[in-house]
Amino acid sequence: MPTPILSKESLIPGKTSKLVLEAPQIAGKARPGHFVILRMNEKGERIPLTIADTDPEKGTITIVYLVMGKSTAVLESLNAGDAILDVCGPLGRATHIEKRGTVVCVGGGTGIAAMHHIAKGHSRIGNRVVGIIGARSKDLLLFEKELKSFVDELLISTDDGSYGHKGLVTELLKDRLEKDREVFEVVAVGPVPMMSAVAETTRPFGVKTTVSLNPVMVDGIGMCGACRVTVGGETRFACVDGPEFDGHQVDFAELRRRLGAFREQETQSLELWRCSCHGNK
Ligand SMILES: Cc1cc2nc3c(=O)[nH]c(=O)nc-3n(C[C@H](O)[C@H](O)[C@H](O)COP(=O)(O)OP(=O)(O)OC[C@H]3O[C@@H](n4cnc5c(N)ncnc54)[C@H](O)[C@@H]3O)c2cc1C
Ligand code: FES
Repeated sequence: MPTPILSKESLIPGKTSKLVLEAPQIAGKARPGHFVILRMNEKGERIPLTIADTDPEKGTITIVYLVMGKSTAVLESLNAGDAILDVCGPLGRATHIEKRGTVVCVGGGTGIAAMHHIAKGHSRIGNRVVGIIGARSKDLLLFEKELKSFVDELLISTDDGSYGHKGLVTELLKDRLEKDREVFEVVAVGPVPMMSAVAETTRPFGVKTTVSLNPVMVDGIGMCGACRVTVGGETRFACVDGPEFDGHQVDFAELRRRLGAFREQETQSLELWRCSCHGNK
């Protein structure tokens, strides 16, 4: 049954939006770390998006996306009152959350929205949560207000220095780990180079590091093999074994290669869709 879009908020005009969807069954079951797979129309591809928030009482879930190519452009062309053909979930394994002390949650770009749900889970169980978020510039920073409403501390960096620390989230993270030996886990969600850099930053400190991987997915239930990643030398399927894994064990170079495998077709597909003057929703 089509899933109604209840509200749409543009976070970065034309690039990133937040949608609240009416999906009571998913809202009732979803936990931090879960994702959904969407299909906008009969001929559309299936794309995975993290559940950034839920409201089980209202029966809603929130998703936040960056317009990357055709499918996210089609999603961006929808508005409140429209519906998404299929929303399948919750998928993946929920984040392992236990009460242990201080956790540092690092988010970059659109990954901040996904990290927000995980950070909320840690906060609810009683862990002390330090959030670290970063973006290229202040106008690209997401979920600052939402995070500030529950984290114990929020550190911010921008590449151009337009807000917070001028530099990378990993600089703030290293500084925090040097000062605070009580951190039991670092969680990172964001672009692959950022998650890889976070894992390298935490490695010398020996702090458990969890990353949320974003390989290409098709079925999302472990049957097609598209989301194959190598972790600790073993093949794992991110849709059913993850998407969260031990960052110190992930083969990030392979993940980067596989993510770029269809770039030519993706560019063609977006251009064709744009040429059809958006008549092909
Ligand atoms: C578990 C998981 C959770 C994700 N959560 C979010 C999220 O919350 N917000 C968000 O903006 N993005 C998220 N992504 C990435 C998102 O799925 C892709 O950006 C989207 O599929 C791109 O589709 P497109 O047609 O717009 O772009 P395309 O032009 O088709 O592709 C652009 C790039 O997106 C990636 N991509 C393409 N197709 C897929 C696919 N089927 N599955 C995964 N990646 C793909 C590839 O790296 C590709 O090079 C998530 C990915 C995974 C695996
Ligand atoms: S998406 Fe098909 S096995 Fe994971």
